[in-house]
Amino acid sequence: MQESPTPALDNTIEARKTTRRVFLGAAGAAVMSAASYMRVLGANDRIGIGAIGFGLIGKQHIADLKKFKDVDLLSMCDVYKPRLDEGLAYLENPNARGYNDFRKMYENKDIQGVVIATPDHWHALQTILACQAGKDVYVEKPMTLFLDEGKWMIQAARKYGRIVVVGTQRRHGKGVLDSKNVIDSGVLGKIHSIRWSSFRNVYPGFGRAPESEPPAGFNYDMWLGPAEKKPYTAHRGIYHFRWFWDYSGGQMTNLGAHIIDQVLYVMNAKGPTMVSSFGGRYALEDDGETPDLQDAMWVFPGPDPKTPGFTMNATIREANACRSIPDAEARGQLYLGTKGTMVLAGNWEVLPELKGDPINDIPRFSGHPAGGPVYSDTKPTPWIQASKGKGMESDARYGFGGEDTLAMNKQDWLNSMRTRKRPLCDVEDGHRVSIACHLANISLKLGRTIRWDPEKEQTVGDREAAAMCVKQYRAPWDKSLKDAIKV
Ligand SMILES: NC(=O)c1ccc[n+]([C@@H]2O[C@H](COP(=O)([O-])OP(=O)(O)OC[C@H]3O[C@@H](n4cnc5c(N)ncnc54)[C@H](O)[C@@H]3O)[C@@H](O)[C@H]2O)c1
Repeated sequence: MQESPTPALDNTIEARKTTRRVFLGAAGAAVMSAASYMRVLGANDRIGIGAIGFGLIGKQHIADLKKFKDVDLLSMCDVYKPRLDEGLAYLENPNARGYNDFRKMYENKDIQGVVIATPDHWHALQTILACQAGKDVYVEKPMTLFLDEGKWMIQAARKYGRIVVVGTQRRHGKGVLDSKNVIDSGVLGKIHSIRWSSFRNVYPGFGRAPESEPPAGFNYDMWLGPAEKKPYTAHRGIYHFRWFWDYSGGQMTNLGAHIIDQVLYVMNAKGPTMVSSFGGRYALEDDGETPDLQDAMWVFPGPDPKTPGFTMNATIREANACRSIPDAEARGQLYLGTKGTMVLAGNWEVLPELKGDPINDIPRFSGHPAGGPVYSDTKPTPWIQASKGKGMESDARYGFGGEDTLAMNKQDWLNSMRTRKRPLCDVEDGHRVSIACHLANISLKLGRTIRWDPEKEQTVGDREAAAMCVKQYRAPWDKSLKDAIKV
């Protein structure tokens, strides 16, 4: 695939030239590196954006970014030529340039920010190399394919002084902030456990894709990038990469990342100390590898690590949408406190627990013989008042409260690019979410509980699990990584 010819749209070119003049003049320097050039991005300067990956979410990002008046959509990169052409046209900027190799795009000094909407196995390396090239980054969730990539991404962001926002946009929902405020107020008592689920039914699955030649215009080697070389099938490519361990962590990292992100934010939690998970490919009849059924439990420490904090339970089902059971858990995240429960599913709702004499909860049968507990006649009353937010109730899997959280996350990214202040969905937050997801998948694969030190970010006493926190990149990408950061 060739780069698209550079088209000419005078007003856009002029806008870019003017912007550069303003930067260079303000800094009083004739020559500036890409990194220092961007550090002086002022309140009124336009922001040049390049996008990588014009897929399901990549297209939505462009649709959103078009609405921002201070953004110039300068380039599109995709390894599938028909998508590159479609994406380039979708930018509606005849001046924009197309690329099939993101490294070439990173050379464009007019680009200050890149949106990375490629499959999971590309997120870390494309982010790290963007930081090295002096670009700020909006990278899709799940932030990483394996645990150590998160450490590398933080290192790159800090080393090169870059803003890195992760696409766990639901954290911006008002329901999430309200829930956090309610829980922080202590009104629900001690939150000791959290339950969430992700039910849907895609039985019998997506079929079996035989080995074949990649479609015309699809640069499969560049699509694979750092991942192991495997023969092409239609499932090892566009969209369906999600069901293969080489490119994804399955629904635990796909939908689970969104939910765990909210839980960690609401609970001010850093990381678990123990994780157990079970499941596998139980029901779907296609060629996918990642679990269609997964149960997981995490144990989080309290503020004083010696005291228990809370547990988190997850249920993921791909072959039953749980339609017939009016289970509160199927509605969203449940935060179970001693005095009430918070249900968070886009909107939030507080369901009170009843305050009664504990003695009355002991079974009665025919009554206790002499010396047994004596019941009292106190009537249970709610510990707290029921309450509910004014947002929209939504599908537990998606958890929007009616707001356009995707656009909000991008607005936050653009703001941070100007202020250099930490965004709401920072690279460190994305790393913590990924840790929780990856530890669950490691536990599932090893069939045992994984112990984790959230401060040192290390597995405890389990060499096999530790080895699964890192993977080798395929050449030449291993060298690109080592040239950019310390590994
Ligand atoms: N935040 C959200 O709500 C949300 C929603 C959907 C998807 N996602 C995430 O976005 C990512 C992409 O998902 P999708 O459904 O859009 O996938 P997709 O397969 O539809 O699109 C990915 C695109 O990236 C391109 N690509 C792959 N490698 C590339 C490379 N090296 N250089 C340039 N282009 C390359 C592919 O050709 C494809 O067009 C996934 O990680 C997914 O988890 C996030």
